[in-house]
Amino acid sequence: MDNRIYRIQTAADFVKSRIGAEAPVVGIVLGSGLGRLAEKIEDPVTIPYKEVPELPISTAVGHKGNFIYGKLGGKFVIAMQGRFHYYEGYSMEQVTMGIRVMSKLGIKFLFVSNAAGACNIDYEVGDLVIIKDHINLLPNPLIGPNMDDFGPRFPDMTCPYDLELISKAESLALEMDLRMHKGVYLGSTGPTYETPAEVRYFRTIGADLLGMSTIPEVIVARHCGIRVFGMSVVTNLSNTRNIERNLNDGDDVVIQANLAADRMSELFSRMISSL
Ligand code: HPA
Repeated sequence: MDNRIYRIQTAADFVKSRIGAEAPVVGIVLGSGLGRLAEKIEDPVTIPYKEVPELPISTAVGHKGNFIYGKLGGKFVIAMQGRFHYYEGYSMEQVTMGIRVMSKLGIKFLFVSNAAGACNIDYEVGDLVIIKDHINLLPNPLIGPNMDDFGPRFPDMTCPYDLELISKAESLALEMDLRMHKGVYLGSTGPTYETPAEVRYFRTIGADLLGMSTIPEVIVARHCGIRVFGMSVVTNLSNTRNIERNLNDGDDVVIQANLAADRMSELFSRMISSL
């Protein structure tokens, strides 16, 4: 057996033995500062990553590392509270292993979230942005022998973000009176933030949002045939208006990220309830 599939199956069997009989329908990946959504999950079962065999150990300081299974919006969900980043030194297989584990558990939808810098000058700190497309500047997680059990060698990427889920989010945003944009997320390795010249370059090639995560998870989810919805919370402005100041450490940004996390949680929960 392919060692990668053995590792995924071992981890999935363990998680399955800890959760209820009902398979989760939705997987959720919670980005930096957005872990609060996990508090909204009812009757939660928490499974620390460090207890899951074969799963990488989370090394990022201050990052929670748990699967949380329970009910949100009336559906069974499994959330990843904390993700694995390439810049932490994990392989792409490790960065995306949680997605394959959740796929083995039966998820049909993946909701991914992240904190991002905005290089679109119309965006403000605290804004929610629906990810409508991406530009991948990280290594592709599908490089290597294809895992045919999961999906094809050359997965289609004309529509990585599900159009039906996007339009659901847009109508809910109107209903909830939420300020929301739709943008292109560019993922690079980090851990450095962008130089001013890089920000101008990324804007020129079509990015609205800059980050260091998410895309590998989305690629792997699409390889597994999982429908994806992505959302960024703008935590700092990486644009020409504000090019010399990185607001990412400010208290204001933390407050905004928390406020945004609550709005995002409510949106996710309403979307999930309508699935
Ligand atoms: N750039 C890259 N990643 C980020 C940023 C940024 O400005 N803000 C939060 N994550």
